[in-house]
Amino acid sequence: MMISRREVLRQIKILGIPYLALPLVTMVKEYYSTPQQTRGPFYPLKFPLDGDNDLTWVKDHQKSALGEKIMIVGQVLTLNDQPIKDAKIEIWQACSSGHYNHEYDPNQAPIDPHFQGWGWTTTDQKGYYAFKTIKLGGYPVTNNWKRPPHIHFKISQPDEKEFITQLYFAEEQELNQQDKILQRIPENLQSLVITKLIKNESLNMRVGQFNIRV
Ligand SMILES: [Fe+2]
Repeated sequence: MMISRREVLRQIKILGIPYLALPLVTMVKEYYSTPQQTRGPFYPLKFPLDGDNDLTWVKDHQKSALGEKIMIVGQVLTLNDQPIKDAKIEIWQACSSGHYNHEYDPNQAPIDPHFQGWGWTTTDQKGYYAFKTIKLGGYPVTNNWKRPPHIHFKISQPDEKEFITQLYFAEEQELNQQDKILQRIPENLQSLVITKLIKNESLNMRVGQFNIRV
């Protein structure tokens, strides 16, 4: 189910995004680029037939994805805080059990066939984007390293190098602090890639804001 641009704008109005201040993010002075992160091994080799910005519902399926449904919304901006319109944003992530829909994922946890796993959208005139997805689980990488729940982001614009990063959740502090990939980012900039999910009564969902400065 596609979330239309009009719907995105409506939701942004409901959310009052400029006022959805996140203490973690605002602690960091502006003008920092969002830290880039590795693309990881699970960017799709084959793209699913349904690739819209609602990852909780696969076209023609009779059931929605398992797990808590959340929204991630934000703006893509230049370093001078100018909105970037028509940027393509792709996200990909594991399903609620922590398993990617990817043939190289060795995770034995059962995969949710009703989770879309990857999707894309473009920013509107004011640089806004929105995705509906699920709050996923973490997954083991080695016996003593479990990755925290995270969502991969790729931003593409014509004639620009791809911008790739990962978004984390403030409520996963313990796993975040032990994560070798997140900890590659200097401590004072980590909050730029960590979102806090806040319950939105009108959407009846928790919503995380992620502004991406490229
Ligand atoms: Fe990952």
